[in-house]
Amino acid sequence: MCEPIKVGILGLGKYLPEKILTNKDLEKIVDTTDEWIMSRTGIKERRIARDNEATSDMATEAARRALEAAKLKPEDIDLIIVATITPDMFFPATACLVQEKLGARTVPAFDVSVACSGFIYGIAIAKQFIASGVYKHALVVASEKLSSITDWTDRNTCVLFGDGAGAAVLGPVDRGGILSTYLGADGKQGELIKLPAGGSRIPATKKSIEDKLHFIKMNGSELFKHAVRIMADAALQATKPIGLKAEDINLVIPHQANVRILHAAAKRMGLSTDKIYLNIEKYGNMSAASSAVALVEAVEEGRIKRGDKILLDAFGGGLTWGAIVIEW
Ligand code: ACO
Repeated sequence: MCEPIKVGILGLGKYLPEKILTNKDLEKIVDTTDEWIMSRTGIKERRIARDNEATSDMATEAARRALEAAKLKPEDIDLIIVATITPDMFFPATACLVQEKLGARTVPAFDVSVACSGFIYGIAIAKQFIASGVYKHALVVASEKLSSITDWTDRNTCVLFGDGAGAAVLGPVDRGGILSTYLGADGKQGELIKLPAGGSRIPATKKSIEDKLHFIKMNGSELFKHAVRIMADAALQATKPIGLKAEDINLVIPHQANVRILHAAAKRMGLSTDKIYLNIEKYGNMSAASSAVALVEAVEEGRIKRGDKILLDAFGGGLTWGAIVIEW
């Protein structure tokens, strides 16, 4: 019998727009303070894409860097998945735009729309194709231009979000790799965070624009409670079936929504907070791109060593969630 194909990450890349919007800048736009934002969320600043910079542009740059790190060329890629809730447009899929910009072959390319869990969903999907021998190399990109769906007059939301992209090239590995994946969703909680208009339910009209229905609407305090429970449970669901306990995990790379959510989730998981990787201070919540960029930076900073077991853990609008254990 053939050995099962082990799947791992061959290369990582990120792209962050140059423009930095600080909490001090936001004090001039809405009724807020640096102190409130920092103490309630852990965010100090976030990146904002240029007007002419779309999600596919950021995705392509992150993908190029991931391919370079993997020492592969665009033509080596057999599958392209882009995780985003801010696609360039409804269709073509942003993944198709990225395929064209990269000069990749006419391989399958599609988007996944599960908000902040998107990078984890993308990796879980790509892993299946590689493990089953259907494809050899997959590109998973998480890219978001949340500034384009943010209401810059709403202090409840505008202080939280930022723009950016992270990418991973997946392929067969000799040892370690992705040890387990766990995904879930609960549509009953879909009202907690959504973009109400622009789809078939409420197509764009003068009224939908006047009513600001093309911006993120969020019930922050309810989401907070769900997020803590969901992240702790997802961690358990990904680790328990493979016989791992919290103490076996070297580093958790979580979705960066709020530092208080992450500390509360760590406590519930029985993990010390120093095992939770944080970069929310610099970027805010970039939805699907958050956990991707966090993974890239954890590696860049030498926080992940060969043989380490890391846990990717995210929740997002939908609600959706997912967790992945990788042996590095
Ligand atoms: N500056 C100053 N005051 C503010 C601000 C602000 N930017 N935003 C809200 N407030 C006020 C509120 O109006 C409220 O005032 P009131 O008591 O007079 O009504 C007060 O601060 C407290 O508001 P809460 O909402 O109770 O504050 P909370 O401690 O819950 O923090 C926050 C709010 C940061 C949004 C928190 O609930 C949170 O992070 N929730 C989770 C959000 C999240 O995870 N979102 C994304 C998930 S899915 C995805 O990422 C796509």
